[in-house]
Amino acid sequence: MPPEPTTTAPSSYDQWRAAYGLNAERDVEFTTLGGIPIEPLYTEKDRPTGTAEGAGGEIDPSIGVPGQYPFTRGVYPSMYRGRLWTMRQFAGFGTAEETNERFRYLLDHGQTGLSTAFDMPSLMGHDSDSALSLGEVGREGVAIDTVDDMQTLFQGIDLGKVSVSMTINAPAAVMLAFFAVAAERQGGGDQDNPGVPLDRLNGTIQADILKEYIAQKEWCFPVDPAMRVLGDMIEWSTRNMPRWNSVSISGYHIREAGATAVQELAFTLKDGLTYVEQAIERGLDVDDFAPRLSFFFNSQIDFFEEIAKYRAARRIWARELKETFGAKNPKSWLMRTHTQTAGVSLTAQQPLNNVARTAIEALAGVLGGTQSLHTNSYDEALALPSEEAVRIALRTQQIIAHETGVTNTIDPLGGSWFVEALTDEMERQAYEYFRKIDELGGMVEAVKLSYPQREIAEAAFELQTAIEDERRIVVGVNRYTEGDDGEHPLLKVDPALERKQVDRLQGVRAARDGAAVEATLVALKEQAEKPDANLMDPLMDCARAHVTEGEIIHALQDVFGSYTETPVF
Ligand code: 3HC
Repeated sequence: MPPEPTTTAPSSYDQWRAAYGLNAERDVEFTTLGGIPIEPLYTEKDRPTGTAEGAGGEIDPSIGVPGQYPFTRGVYPSMYRGRLWTMRQFAGFGTAEETNERFRYLLDHGQTGLSTAFDMPSLMGHDSDSALSLGEVGREGVAIDTVDDMQTLFQGIDLGKVSVSMTINAPAAVMLAFFAVAAERQGGGDQDNPGVPLDRLNGTIQADILKEYIAQKEWCFPVDPAMRVLGDMIEWSTRNMPRWNSVSISGYHIREAGATAVQELAFTLKDGLTYVEQAIERGLDVDDFAPRLSFFFNSQIDFFEEIAKYRAARRIWARELKETFGAKNPKSWLMRTHTQTAGVSLTAQQPLNNVARTAIEALAGVLGGTQSLHTNSYDEALALPSEEAVRIALRTQQIIAHETGVTNTIDPLGGSWFVEALTDEMERQAYEYFRKIDELGGMVEAVKLSYPQREIAEAAFELQTAIEDERRIVVGVNRYTEGDDGEHPLLKVDPALERKQVDRLQGVRAARDGAAVEATLVALKEQAEKPDANLMDPLMDCARAHVTEGEIIHALQDVFGSYTETPVF
């Protein structure tokens, strides 16, 4: 609560406070979505960290300026005045052909970067003809079994020019190898057409394995070997792929699992700091790999909480890399992030309302200073997005970019007492979580103890209870429910695509050199047995021999074992 009125002559604030007290407040809980109490008014009094230097036109060092430490106001000096965020719609369904068409459709409609959604079998390390894949092939993302599928996925798209994101985690090292070999084979891949070399590939692979155990639950191996494989990728891409973001440290799925904004902020950054610790323990210099660590945050429906979350994230990351890990290169201090608007905020009821929700969430991500943005389609609570819906989603970004004027100045909400006070408070609460996680022995141990999982489950329960009690209104769901708006053209993935993919995979198996497959898998397992060996080169050899993702994952599970979660309630 703001400080009590003083006893001397009443200041304007005191007068306001007195007058305010005469008015009844609406009977709602004035808190952020994550439960942070919100004051009716914010003034200079509400920023305890605001310093005397902040008065009289000096720059408050805790806020700073864009492009300079601590980057509260943005990672680049010119932000959207210099370059708009990348419009990067997550896309993938069916076989590589269908997704290649969708990629081209999006690029033709003004998208400026690609983002690959894989189907569940690919995400879990199963081949399309595995019994476990039946009915799931190409259904919620693209089916990728071999390097051949990866080549088809990017057919006609110059991988030396377009930045590509791949959303895959437990099998990420396999898909990175498929992608790198597919690039070297673009245009023929022979002496006359050498394809795209590793050092020209620009993009990102998600690969953030800790958040899988915390939230998304797509794993292949036990925690420790999975951390080793991620470390291999960070080390290998640092040495070979200077334009490649080696990991996209993700809060999106943590939030979608029901976390509050502060939990998303804290757990995501703590995951990232854990990867930094691991890479340094492997002998890497922090300034070699840290500039290519990237982030991925959710943008939920509480507008100001999201903006403050991004600003706090930049300041925390910059401080931890500079002060705790001693990074000297300012690029190491940058918290560069992708944003996706909140899938869990979409409603199946009155789906056109989701256009408004997505627009508000996208605006929050932009005012929060994101570098890349995916806007959800209004029909995604019902199905994968139709072409019409994905076009509206992309147009939403273009309207924000070109019509609203919010890109005309940098961090326009900076200096708002409310936004700065909320940024301070979220930062403070994030550090409280850091301390609890450190007391448990760090994030890997905390994950093994199901600590973040339990925190998220409790937050999810509280939010759902608030919705069911109507303490939290969801328009069209628990209030204003009349007037649904009828049928919408939903994307239906043709089940025949599954057969097509299985036939294609079996064709690759029939045509490849069986001896090379066997030899590269044996070599991979031998290297996997050595804790200090880097698995990326053996994985590249497997990719070149047309070994399938499932064969590779199963070979690694022979060495690492598999994982079964201990559920928490
Ligand atoms: N002034 C000067 N230079 C600028 C600038 C400015 N104002 N703005 C940008 N630039 C430069 C940058 O320095 C960069 O230069 P570089 O290539 O030499 O480094 C270039 O322009 C591109 O800018 P960014 O790197 O900021 O933007 P990108 O879009 O290339 O990268 C990223 C953004 C966040 C760093 C990157 O990691 C990325 O693209 N991530 C996307 C991840 C993604 O798509 N994830 C989807 C996940 S979907 C999911 O998981 C949900 C599902 O499971 C449900």
